[in-house]
Amino acid sequence: MIGRLNHVAIAVRDLAKAASVYRDVLGAQVSEPVLQPEHGVTTVFITLPNTKIELISPLGDNSPIAKFLERMPDGGIHHVCYEVDDITTARDALRKQGARVLGDGEPKIGAHGKPVLFLHPKDFCGTLVEIEQA
Ligand code: CO
Repeated sequence: MIGRLNHVAIAVRDLAKAASVYRDVLGAQVSEPVLQPEHGVTTVFITLPNTKIELISPLGDNSPIAKFLERMPDGGIHHVCYEVDDITTARDALRKQGARVLGDGEPKIGAHGKPVLFLHPKDFCGTLVEIEQA
């Protein structure tokens, strides 16, 4: 069902510092910060030859990553995103297997302008999984 790894998201408190680590220490191609108020995060996109890394930091008072950063003050891997051909077909198949889809289960438009859903970490080896329609 899942296809390519679309991105790995890393939550950080200090986005400028994290962007500098990837740009200046690791020598990666790093975007300017992009505000995503509808998702409660600011994102820096890092383009690698075979996938992307997204650095995300909290934006606004009700950021979905605020609690995560309370537990992991140094930052950490927040989720992985896999591509699927059709998001509602994937959702229905996953539910049939007993997987929990977060939120109301309706796909939302993600950071790349494509429909996404999140899956419960307890059903996926302790890792929050995002699926994105390719
Ligand atoms: Co993501």
